[in-house]
Amino acid sequence: MMFSIIHLAIALSLSFPLLSSSAPLKLRRSKTISPRQSPSRSFTLAETIAGESFFDAFDFFTDADPTHGAVNYVSQDTAQAKGLAGVTNGLARIAVDSTSTLEMGTNRDSVRISTKNTYSKGLFIYNVTHMPTGLTTWPAVWSTDGANWPNNGEIDLIEGVHESQNNQVTMHTNGGCSLATGQAITGTVIGTTCDSTVTNNGCATTDPNGWGTEFNAAGGGVFVKVWDPDYGIEVFHFPQDKVPDVSRSDFLGNPVSFIPNGDLCNIGEHFQNHQIIINITLCGDWAGASYSGPGTCQSAVMDPTNYKDAYWEIGSIEVYQSSPA
Ligand SMILES: *[C@@H]1O[C@H](CO)[C@@H](O)[C@H](O)[C@H]1NC(C)=O
Ligand SMILES: *[C@@H]1O[C@H](CO)[C@@H](O)[C@H](O)[C@H]1NC(C)=O
Repeated sequence: MMFSIIHLAIALSLSFPLLSSSAPLKLRRSKTISPRQSPSRSFTLAETIAGESFFDAFDFFTDADPTHGAVNYVSQDTAQAKGLAGVTNGLARIAVDSTSTLEMGTNRDSVRISTKNTYSKGLFIYNVTHMPTGLTTWPAVWSTDGANWPNNGEIDLIEGVHESQNNQVTMHTNGGCSLATGQAITGTVIGTTCDSTVTNNGCATTDPNGWGTEFNAAGGGVFVKVWDPDYGIEVFHFPQDKVPDVSRSDFLGNPVSFIPNGDLCNIGEHFQNHQIIINITLCGDWAGASYSGPGTCQSAVMDPTNYKDAYWEIGSIEVYQSSPA
């Protein structure tokens, strides 16, 4: 496990801080690491969602797809019986039906799960060993407060469509929040208006290294989200073999995306009470509108061979909270 140093640190009650991009970090015996720019803060492991108990942390969503996708979100029992949700070799698998040939206009079985717990801050480490790819697919790992959208915000951590090789990190809010540009990030900002009450594009950053078949061929990767109401929301992505060692001074480096807390957006006000959601939809508002053939998006849904790689495989989700909380 690449995070063994973190785990060791926890075992020793060490902790690590919220990191700023340029902070030289040293693991000190004082049990905290002081970043240069962001306030000194330390985190301890609060929750691990992994292995055989992975699905205990989630509810299965079975309503119609709010984004108009050609999917039928199934219950936990159905998902398990059909092999669309399960744990194999310690890895949680969440999949689209890849065996049924469907009639035109029929929705394909898929899974959408959301955590029972809700979060308003923390450091989240997602170890994703495989992400869904293929024509018509629109998978996402994201978080929101569904009952108070967009007032309590939405953070789309991993999202893309079809066979894209780009990850898109997007925030959605109500009025009065925009993304401050000019940050030291590795991604490319493609939208600064987070307010989704006018248009629903959100404020978005793309990462050319975080998605798709290339990501899967490399054994997946690790996404880190640092959500600190006083500092901002940072997203990092690392290949499996380049996950930083917290004892090294370049731990984390520059994030893919960063929305700072400040005049342009009060993070604590705009992002609260989120469930973590993992879903795979097909076609719908984004993947349907951007589909370019063969045939129509809906006709492609009939063919199960389009879905052989349409599954998530997740090693773990770890949630750290600042200590003292
Ligand atoms: C992610 O999970 C996989 C599968 O359990 C494991 O082999 C890999 O080492 C993990 N990656 C990290 C960075 O811990
Ligand atoms: C799937 O995830 C994306 C993530 O942004 C979200 O916009 C969409 O509403 C989700 N679809 C469903 C049905 O949950």
